[in-house]
Amino acid sequence: MFGEAGKTKFQIDLRQHLRDQNISGNLVHLLCEIAEASKYVINAIRTGDLGVAGTSNLYGEEQLALDVLSDRIIRKRLQHSGVVCNIASEEMEEIFQVSSNPQGMFSVAYDPLDGSSLVDVNLAVGTIVGIYQGCDLLQTGRKMVGAVYILYGPRVSLVYSVGKGVYEFTMNQLMEFTLTREQIRMQPSGDIYSPGGLRKKYCEGNERFIRYLEEKGSKLRYSGGFVPDINQVLIKGKGVFMYPALTDSPNGKLRLLFELNPMAFLIEQAGGAATNGESPILDIVPESLDQRSPIYIGCREDVEKAREFLNGGC
Ligand code: AHG
Ligand code: MN
Ligand code: MN
Repeated sequence: MFGEAGKTKFQIDLRQHLRDQNISGNLVHLLCEIAEASKYVINAIRTGDLGVAGTSNLYGEEQLALDVLSDRIIRKRLQHSGVVCNIASEEMEEIFQVSSNPQGMFSVAYDPLDGSSLVDVNLAVGTIVGIYQGCDLLQTGRKMVGAVYILYGPRVSLVYSVGKGVYEFTMNQLMEFTLTREQIRMQPSGDIYSPGGLRKKYCEGNERFIRYLEEKGSKLRYSGGFVPDINQVLIKGKGVFMYPALTDSPNGKLRLLFELNPMAFLIEQAGGAATNGESPILDIVPESLDQRSPIYIGCREDVEKAREFLNGGC
């Protein structure tokens, strides 16, 4: 397989690949800036302070120093990119306006370091980014023009889509992202499941769905990190992740703008599905920055089965 004249696909770096995708120069620039910022997040993860920051985020959750540092790294990069007008972060209380001019600009919603509480036990963590055209961040996920995640695991990988399929890049010895998978596709159903939350707080429909999965032979795979757990379902092309409604939190735990919309965009682009138990995640109209939602995401037949067991409600 040869891309850029004479290069094998494993030598094509992110910028060259994006230029071949016939997308706007501003979006190429934005995606490359996000990729560049991730290199400084890697350094923060590997050398940064593992303690608390002494502050809390939009959700009242105690922030780790790494959350705040990663957020600052990414925000600065976006702020000075020249192509971003509004920024929202899981770690910022409100929208950060860079410009009011929507012309050729994007708005970005991101989770700078998802799973940050796993760094001190050396488990994989990630950065999640959703990209919208213009300056409105409260659009449905269906309106996104791109989504990216960077997975800081044994290898560092970057997975993105701009609506023309899903691509994976892996960081090489020179810290360049080079193409390692293209047009990633998911199977209709799979044999792994990733159940978030406390089982004793599951509703009856979710409990029955889990029993169905186990009876069909699905294996439980759950790390507690949304990015590695989703990456496993996507790259193996099989399985379903869920963070359901719980008896004491009907909207589950995960955040619509910063976690669910970007991942739902990527998984749908790979032929999978993502629902809140009733309707597609990407069709949810956001009412606030801090909105949460239950989620079932992965192979489309498994996600459809979840909807049947939940029968319109949890
Ligand atoms: P964050 O570190 O950004 O707050 O996200 C943590 C999330 C997500 O990574 C994962 O799927 C979920 O928390 C795990 O929650 P539980 O520990 O309740 O299973
Ligand atoms: Mn998160
Ligand atoms: Mn986070």
